[in-house]
Amino acid sequence: MSDLPKKSSPLVADWQTLERVFIRPEDESSKESLVKYMEQILFGLHEFLNKHVGVTEEISLVKLADNYKDTIINREPQKKLEHVIKDIIEEIAPRAVNVASPYFVGHMTSAIPFFMVHLKAITAALNQNLIKLETSKVLSLLEKQVLAKIHRQIYQNDKHFYEEHVQNTKTTLGVFTTGGTTANLTALWVARNSLFPPKEDFGGIEHAGFFEAMGAYDTDRVVVLVSKRGHYSLKKAGGILGIGNNNVIPIDVDDTRRIDLIKLKNRIAELNNDKRTKIAALIGIAGATETGIIDPLPELAAICQENNIHFHVDAAWGGPVLMSEKYSHLLAGIEKADSITIDCHKQFYMPMTSGMVYFKDPTAMDQVAYHAQYVNRQGSVDLGIKSLEGSREANSLILDSALKIMGTRGYSLMIEHGIEIAKQFASMIKERPLFQLISEPQLNILTYRIVPLNLRQQLENADSIQRVELDSQISEINTKLQRIQREAGKSFVSRTRLRVRPGDSHNAIVLRSVIMNPLTTTEILEEILNEQENILLFC
Ligand SMILES: Cc1ncc(COP(=O)(O)O)c(C=O)c1O
Repeated sequence: MSDLPKKSSPLVADWQTLERVFIRPEDESSKESLVKYMEQILFGLHEFLNKHVGVTEEISLVKLADNYKDTIINREPQKKLEHVIKDIIEEIAPRAVNVASPYFVGHMTSAIPFFMVHLKAITAALNQNLIKLETSKVLSLLEKQVLAKIHRQIYQNDKHFYEEHVQNTKTTLGVFTTGGTTANLTALWVARNSLFPPKEDFGGIEHAGFFEAMGAYDTDRVVVLVSKRGHYSLKKAGGILGIGNNNVIPIDVDDTRRIDLIKLKNRIAELNNDKRTKIAALIGIAGATETGIIDPLPELAAICQENNIHFHVDAAWGGPVLMSEKYSHLLAGIEKADSITIDCHKQFYMPMTSGMVYFKDPTAMDQVAYHAQYVNRQGSVDLGIKSLEGSREANSLILDSALKIMGTRGYSLMIEHGIEIAKQFASMIKERPLFQLISEPQLNILTYRIVPLNLRQQLENADSIQRVELDSQISEINTKLQRIQREAGKSFVSRTRLRVRPGDSHNAIVLRSVIMNPLTTTEILEEILNEQENILLFC
């Protein structure tokens, strides 16, 4: 790392320097470098990112790891703030990933509007802790308000409902979480508890545990159903909640890559036949991680109602599409969900990390209420009483401010851009003889693969056994191509494994593209495809 302090002026940790660190910049030159970079970050974010972030030639991770093997914390200060900032800008940022590049179309992490950095900085400066009123005061009220705003956008209850609940200290319309993983976990936590409530001398599963619950309810097994495209966080929740991740049962998808309703109904009938098995939840996906596909939510809601199953919608990705007048119909049925996950750091374009979970029934979260003597006392209005997380930053302040700055129209413009560019990208892929579109974009995610012409011809005449072998060769080519393109450093698409044609019993590697950067144009996508065609020559 550059600019190590000179030996002649050792740095010391004494009360004088600590006081300086707490209340003001160390010295004028520290202040100067901080102001220089902060000015660029606050007022020229995108130029700053393009100039400083992810701009080095590819270094192997193994080589890079050599710089990060020292495990001793210095007793005395090693560097001044000024030098630490320089190190971050000169050593760390160039080797980080420029996720804001419009050529970075491979993951659900992308550019954020510049004002998000301002809001994040102010939120950090205020350093409110939403666990309790004593450390957040008005922020707790604002958080309840923004939760009610999004709840209203989803469930569209009448104004009396929101007047009753917006600042009601006894009810909870939703909570902020660290992301989609903990939002899904929270939803399944509530679903599990409502399946095993207290009765007679059984205190409820939350208090008495799984073992007693099984006895009290003559049950051997609890399951959760989701399409095989379900996010792996659901399996984690299965593990954590004692359900077992094997009991998060993947249901096959149909030719449209949505959950197969016939197979789902058959599976539920089978499970219902076994009186010692209970279904804790059925999950509909609104924007699958790999394909962007939305499950048939109205049909899933009807199945849940008929079978008395908790209906959870994982809209970590797709939730904000509700703001688009043009495309919100794609999420029809979401308002029937008992619980809904939405990520803020995805299509709400907020900085890492923030998510939310909503409940149709404002009393649903009573089943996960926790109190402590020093905080979240019985009868208090502290938001930490019903949240999985303890201490939490005021992400609600960022979302509320962003909604004021953008309006639903601003967000919908970005979302509609993503969907429409993805549809154009799909047409471009179909027009090129070297490419095969694998999943049509319903939202702004699509998958495709490159297929060399000779292999394409062979595939046309192949039987099912030969197709497995040919797909494996094509997978190798796509894996290599994706790696070479990533290492070249200009563009990035990701890759995953999917069934490439209906009826196949095997998967193949496909390229995955997520269009969420408003600066990504069809010209850029043409360039990405051209680059892939050129790379094919080396595969
Ligand atoms: C559909 C879906 N659900 C849940 C998650 C998990 O969200 P997070 O990474 O914010 O924990 C993701 C993340 O990509 C997702 O796509």
